[in-house]
Amino acid sequence: MVDQSAVEALADQVQSNPKYQHILKDLVLRLCEDALAKGEKPKTALKSVRNKLHQIGGAYFKQKINYSQIQLDLDELPDDLHDPQVQRFCLTTMQAHASSAERLPILEEFFTTCLDPIQPVTSVLDLACGFNPLALLWMPLAAGCTYRACDIFLDMLQLVQSFFTHFDFDGAACPCDLAHQVPGHKVQVAFLLKSIPCLEQMDKAISAPLLEAIQADHILVSFPVSSLTGKQKGMPSFYRDHFYQLLSETGWQIREFVFQSELAFLVTK
Ligand SMILES: C[S@@+](CC[C@H](N)C(=O)[O-])C[C@H]1O[C@@H](n2cnc3c(N)ncnc32)[C@H](O)[C@@H]1O
Repeated sequence: MVDQSAVEALADQVQSNPKYQHILKDLVLRLCEDALAKGEKPKTALKSVRNKLHQIGGAYFKQKINYSQIQLDLDELPDDLHDPQVQRFCLTTMQAHASSAERLPILEEFFTTCLDPIQPVTSVLDLACGFNPLALLWMPLAAGCTYRACDIFLDMLQLVQSFFTHFDFDGAACPCDLAHQVPGHKVQVAFLLKSIPCLEQMDKAISAPLLEAIQADHILVSFPVSSLTGKQKGMPSFYRDHFYQLLSETGWQIREFVFQSELAFLVTK
């Protein structure tokens, strides 16, 4: 049994670094508890928990994000989502996160192609969303579509929520640690974009039960085709085999789409 005050002290130390300050506290506490339960000494545990948080999320921020400035820019925007100024704001903000930045050259093609079989989309649950909700302008969404998004970075979620609010869009951005719980919200399509490799760094066996638990008619799942450092290392075939293996017993329909920077699957349950 791990001493809870030691867990909390370690979590406070982890989050004293601004890089980890805005991560969902429950996730930090859980990682701290796991590290101490493994017998790691506090100094080693501090390093290993921060490393893990870096791998699963921190590494994707290309530089420190100035949320106050982005919020000011958002406040200045017209309230018409289709105004070119709004598009520029979305593209610039998505550029700050390595995962959405990598998708920018294929943004429209990605969503129109992958969602074509089920468009117009009436409800979305964007799991481990990053800045992807800011791509909604490029998605074939029906008028009145609802958009729920979750991630572990509270400052990023606050910005996504402000974005929905500014445009009076029916959206909500909420913190959620997918390794611990899955939002119970029933939707037409859930997105799990490029996040399976991150989640499997916390729990190798997470993916099959997670896909099973998602309350959606369809799930759009994707994988990166190169690492954050740009190395290809046979990733598309590795992830393709891994994904078909994960779903081998389900009988779900799988449509596959290959893009220059992403491998995607539209799964129909
Ligand atoms: C590779 S990025 C993908 C972001 C977004 N889906 C996209 O494709 O642009 C992985 C995302 O997973 C989030 N993440 C990592 N672990 C998580 C967890 N346990 N629960 C929810 N989100 C998590 C990270 O914060 C990060 O935004």
